[in-house]
Amino acid sequence: MHGYEEWTREWMAQRTATRDLAFLLPHLSPGMAIIDCGCGPGSITVGLAEIVAPGHVIGLDIEPRQLEAAQRLATERATPNVRFEPGSVYELPFPDATFDVAVAHFVLEHVSDPMRALREIRRVLRPGGLAAIKDPYYPAFIFRPQTTELRGFGELAEKVRKHNGASDTYAVDLRAYLLEAGFERTEAQGGLENIAGNEEAARVLPMMLQNQVRERAFRDTVLEQGWATEAELDAISAAAPDLARRDDLFGFVVFVSALGWVAK
Ligand SMILES: C[S@@+](CC[C@H](N)C(=O)[O-])C[C@H]1O[C@@H](n2cnc3c(N)ncnc32)[C@H](O)[C@@H]1O
Repeated sequence: MHGYEEWTREWMAQRTATRDLAFLLPHLSPGMAIIDCGCGPGSITVGLAEIVAPGHVIGLDIEPRQLEAAQRLATERATPNVRFEPGSVYELPFPDATFDVAVAHFVLEHVSDPMRALREIRRVLRPGGLAAIKDPYYPAFIFRPQTTELRGFGELAEKVRKHNGASDTYAVDLRAYLLEAGFERTEAQGGLENIAGNEEAARVLPMMLQNQVRERAFRDTVLEQGWATEAELDAISAAAPDLARRDDLFGFVVFVSALGWVAK
């Protein structure tokens, strides 16, 4: 969906374990073994390693460019207790009952069979182990002002996500999914993050508008399906600087943070 260009990595690398996994922090303690499934550029993974040191954290991703960026970050931050490995959340390359905690942050929203992924995550957790899953609920996202370009961008993004086999809405059913995957007990909470609207909120919205439609995979899908022309995609991208200057720019994203415990 977002591709693997530099802008995506820079955007995701701003995430931190303490901010973006705040719901998990009370359950972490030094010495734990953690797997971060779909670790991306690794900023959350490295943060987890700092929190549970001398415990060990594995970051796993299907994309080599993400793993390289993650390894660079771990080296920069001198974090010895983190390791990055290639692999899929559908087939985790670890024996049963290896980890105390498994994380999937904005990952299962992209896979076509989140239940299969959750069962696999449960398999590698020890008795009493904990899964922390966070994903967006797209129907509640708000982007303003409703310019032609911003509305067009929202509509195209929805079509591409569906075309990729991803679910816009599964996150609100995470408690039920976790129970069906064999977790014994679950908790979930809704959350909201402002992505435009005041000085503190990052101006993610224009940045996404500008770059997402230039992303090769996104662009190819839209053009192949005939959902927009090259010129229309370029117009969306070109509208971003004007949008960034607007005083009425506003937007937020909504997500679900869920925890699932394996029976002791
Ligand atoms: C939106 S990024 C999130 C990255 C990171 N968790 C974060 O929040 O910053 C999704 C990541 O999941 C990875 N991914 C997608 N499908 C995967 C799969 N089946 N197994 C493992 N990783 C996968 C992608 O390569 C990408 O790095």
